[in-house]
Amino acid sequence: MGEIDLRVRDCRHFGTRCGRGPTRRFAEAADYRGSESAGVATYLDSDAIALAPFPDTITYLEDDDWAVLTRKTSVIFNAQGAVAHREVVKSGGSSFLVKTANYRHFMAKEIHAQPEVVGHTLRRYVDVAAERIALPQRLPFDFNDIGRISITGCGSSSYAGYVAKYWFERLARVPVELDVASEFRYREAPLRKGDLAIFISQSGETADTLAALRYVKAQGLHTLSVVNVPTSAIARESETMLQTLAGPQIGVASTKAFTCQLMVLAALAVAAGKSRGELSDAEETRLVQRLIEIPRLMATALATEPQIEKLARDMAKCRNVVYLGRGTSFPLALEGALKLKEISCVHAEGYAAGELKHGPIALIDETMPVVVIAPYDGVFEKTVSNMQEVAARGGNIILMTDAKGAREAIVDPLVTIVLPDMPATFTPMVYDIPMQLLAYHTAVVMGTNVDQPRNLAKAVTVE
Ligand code: G6P
Repeated sequence: MGEIDLRVRDCRHFGTRCGRGPTRRFAEAADYRGSESAGVATYLDSDAIALAPFPDTITYLEDDDWAVLTRKTSVIFNAQGAVAHREVVKSGGSSFLVKTANYRHFMAKEIHAQPEVVGHTLRRYVDVAAERIALPQRLPFDFNDIGRISITGCGSSSYAGYVAKYWFERLARVPVELDVASEFRYREAPLRKGDLAIFISQSGETADTLAALRYVKAQGLHTLSVVNVPTSAIARESETMLQTLAGPQIGVASTKAFTCQLMVLAALAVAAGKSRGELSDAEETRLVQRLIEIPRLMATALATEPQIEKLARDMAKCRNVVYLGRGTSFPLALEGALKLKEISCVHAEGYAAGELKHGPIALIDETMPVVVIAPYDGVFEKTVSNMQEVAARGGNIILMTDAKGAREAIVDPLVTIVLPDMPATFTPMVYDIPMQLLAYHTAVVMGTNVDQPRNLAKAVTVE
């Protein structure tokens, strides 16, 4: 292989695969200051996961670094052209982690991994025995001093933030502004020094989210990131990093990363409510008990798969789908529609159920499936009236609800997916499962590339 000279902005990592025995040890200890390392191959990528099956060591590059790579050597230079010393770390990945095991696709494997990884994430943030929130580190701010929280992310991560907005406002009585990162960084929102900005990102490398983080830091806000990759740029540059323990998210469409983000954000919202005096000890315990139940309820929700697989055969024949929800089910409707769009390329739109009459109702006829996310909660009756509007126009309702909701729904849905009974607050983590399964099986029927949908990237490291 000849010499490659690359200016590194989009590629933040490279790894070296090493030989055996002494050469391997040498390479693990090698510095990259232009000396010969004993690597037998050098790889360059923008996401450490992509490198997981290959190298033994990984080096994380900084912005504007550039590197000269050969098969055996690598030299890193900084923006000024001086040789730069960057830490060489052992690769955390392995080929085991990036195999589909008994599943046909990574997406299926990752959907089914959720009870386990959400459980791991729960135990990082909750003292299960004491039934208390127990954040792994002391926060460098007091929630009582926070006048407003700003939450920023892209794609599914922004929808996790949208769900969290409801939680923070309801449980901690703190106002939350939610933005997609690409808008936030340019809209010159008035920000108050000392307030809190939360950044949500699976990869921790999304360019717009990273730029938003840097923008906010410069304004003197506290920055907290919820990331899955602790070595990522967003993790490293934020004041506080709360990790999701989803493990490697290989499928491009976020599944387990999304529900783990929700778990971290739910725990943080309860912590905020507690420290602001909005939640008593007893209320904290009650909420934590509900969080502890989530992994089991997710496993129960996975049992709807055969029914959803059957439904997907009809969905695959449709050109458009509408998703409706109220309260925390509204951002989930956005996420469900995004998932279907991303992997099956069926056009789907998520709406707040109450917005139906302000536009989307014009689309409803007997060719239109309408997925309604409606756990039996405080806004269920309202959603039922929206379902009646859909039914009156011949729309085919696919109702995601619980046993009580199924009994009380009045209208006659085409299909009812019955999910386990649970108290209202944290339903999105469980109701996201049928949403993911529906998108997955529709894509499988349609024969699209499930794990690497066309035109999409796992980590978008360019603006
Ligand atoms: C891409 C991916 C999405 C992801 C979004 C945000 O668009 O395809 O699955 O939700 O980026 O990524 P992040 O890594 O910041 O969560």
